[in-house]
Amino acid sequence: MSLFEVRDLWVSYGKALILEGLSLEVEEKELVALIGPNGAGKTTLLKAISRVAEPRGSIFFEGQRVDHLSPVEVVKRGIIHCPERRRLFPDLSVEDNLRMGAYLRSKDKDGVQRDLELMFNLFPILRERRTQDAGTLSGGEQQMLAIARSLMSQPKFLMLDEPSLGLAVLVKKLIADTIKDIRKRGMTILLVEQDAVLAFDMADRVYVLELGKIALQGLPQELMENPYIKEIYLGIV
Ligand SMILES: Nc1ncnc2c1ncn2[C@@H]1O[C@H](COP(=O)(O)OP(=O)(O)O)[C@@H](O)[C@H]1O
Ligand SMILES: [Mg+2]
Repeated sequence: MSLFEVRDLWVSYGKALILEGLSLEVEEKELVALIGPNGAGKTTLLKAISRVAEPRGSIFFEGQRVDHLSPVEVVKRGIIHCPERRRLFPDLSVEDNLRMGAYLRSKDKDGVQRDLELMFNLFPILRERRTQDAGTLSGGEQQMLAIARSLMSQPKFLMLDEPSLGLAVLVKKLIADTIKDIRKRGMTILLVEQDAVLAFDMADRVYVLELGKIALQGLPQELMENPYIKEIYLGIV
């Protein structure tokens, strides 16, 4: 069995059916990307996994069902959701935002201090901005802080929702390199990304979500040759 597995997941908001029998797997240390147009249900999937939305179906992590846990219990298992549009505490400093990421580890003071140093080594710009309010950072810096804050909770499985959203091309590239680096260090990642080019560059495997269903899946190099993907997602006719 894979480290993480979603089986036949259905999610509705009121009468609106958003996910219709979605299944997906992520192996240990794999970086899997989920692409798809706006409104396809990508964020809804991550919300269902972190139990902010109510799913029907099963979600397995490390061989155990996690679809009936509370949001805090999901975090305690090591499943961490880095949400869309970053959701930082704008009036708190960079360092305090990072410390918030470790709120469940309050007894582990030495470990938190060590990880704080690790984050400042991984993201040197955050060390420079350490005492600055998060709200004053650039878009790219805020995204790095959001990722670093997620890492402070010591995830076993990291879910990133559109980390490149609204960023300039060069900054997107920088974020992509950072994510690849985190993966190389052994992290298991589910990445939601609208930018298909970026997703194909980063991912080991890709799922395509359209109207609440997995339309296609495969290796990036296979999907990139698919005429439908070329036309719709890569804009190559
Ligand atoms: N809280 C909500 N209540 C009702 N509908 C929602 C809610 N959140 C999202 N939706 C709808 O669910 C669909 C999927 O949204 P979402 O998962 O955010 O898509 P994506 O992340 O792929 O852009 C959209 O049609 C959206 O309008
Ligand atoms: Mg979304």
